[in-house]
Amino acid sequence: MWFEEAMRCPSIGEANAMCLATCTRDGRPSARMVLLKGFSQDGFRFFTNHESRKGKELDSNPFASIVFYWEPLNRQVRIEGSVERLPEEESEHYFHSRPRSSQIGAVVSHQSTVIPDREYLRKKNTELEELYREGTVPKPAYWGGYILKPDVVEFWQGQTNRLHDRIVFRHLRDATAPTGLMTHKGEGNWVYERLAP
Ligand SMILES: Cc1cc2nc3c(=O)[nH]c(=O)nc-3n(C[C@H](O)[C@H](O)[C@H](O)COP(=O)(O)O)c2cc1C
Repeated sequence: MWFEEAMRCPSIGEANAMCLATCTRDGRPSARMVLLKGFSQDGFRFFTNHESRKGKELDSNPFASIVFYWEPLNRQVRIEGSVERLPEEESEHYFHSRPRSSQIGAVVSHQSTVIPDREYLRKKNTELEELYREGTVPKPAYWGGYILKPDVVEFWQGQTNRLHDRIVFRHLRDATAPTGLMTHKGEGNWVYERLAP
C-alpha cells in the first residue's frame, strides 16, 4: 500500500501532506497544501475553515483534485472527485482530538481574511487562552472537515530509464458501459488503464 510505505519511509517528513486544488464557479483554480486526516473506501478526509478561500470555492464548485508527491519513493498520486462536508459530529470529534493550542488557533484565525499584523493574532490568542483556561474550547461553526469522493486515481511510479509507469483508475457510474481493449476491470465499478508517461 503506497500510503503506508510513504508513512514508514524515514526520509518523508509528512507523508500525509497533499496539494489540494479547488476551483471557482467560473473555473479559476487555486491550490495549497493540506494534511490528509484519514481515508477509507468512501474517500479522503481533510479539515479546514469552511469560510477560507478553499471553503468558499468548494461551496460554489464541489469538484477538487489532490496530489501527493513522495520524492524518496519516486511516486506521485493524483486524485480527482467531488467534495462534501463531513457530518458535524465527525468534525466535532476530530476538533477535540487536536492539541488545545490548535483548537485555540482555529478560533483565533478567521483563515484567509486580511488582518492588520502579527500582534493582532498574538493578542487574540492570549485572550482566548485566558478565556478557555478551564473547560473545553468550543468548535467554531466555520471549522470542519471535508471528504473527497474519488472518481479518478492515478498512480505514477518514476523509473530510472524515464519509462515511468502511470496507472489510472476510473470509477464508472455504469459498470455495464462498454470499455476498450486496453481497459481492465478492477474491483467494484473501477476500471484501470496504463497511460503513456
Ligand atoms: C504542509 C502543510 C500542511 C497544511 N495543512 C493544512 C490543513 O490541514 N488545513 C488547513 O486549513 N490548512 C493547512 N495548511 C495551510 C494551507 O496551505 C493554507 O495556507 C490555508 O489552508 C489557507 O488556504 P486558502 O486561503 O486557500 O483557503 C497547511 C500548509 C502546509 C504547508
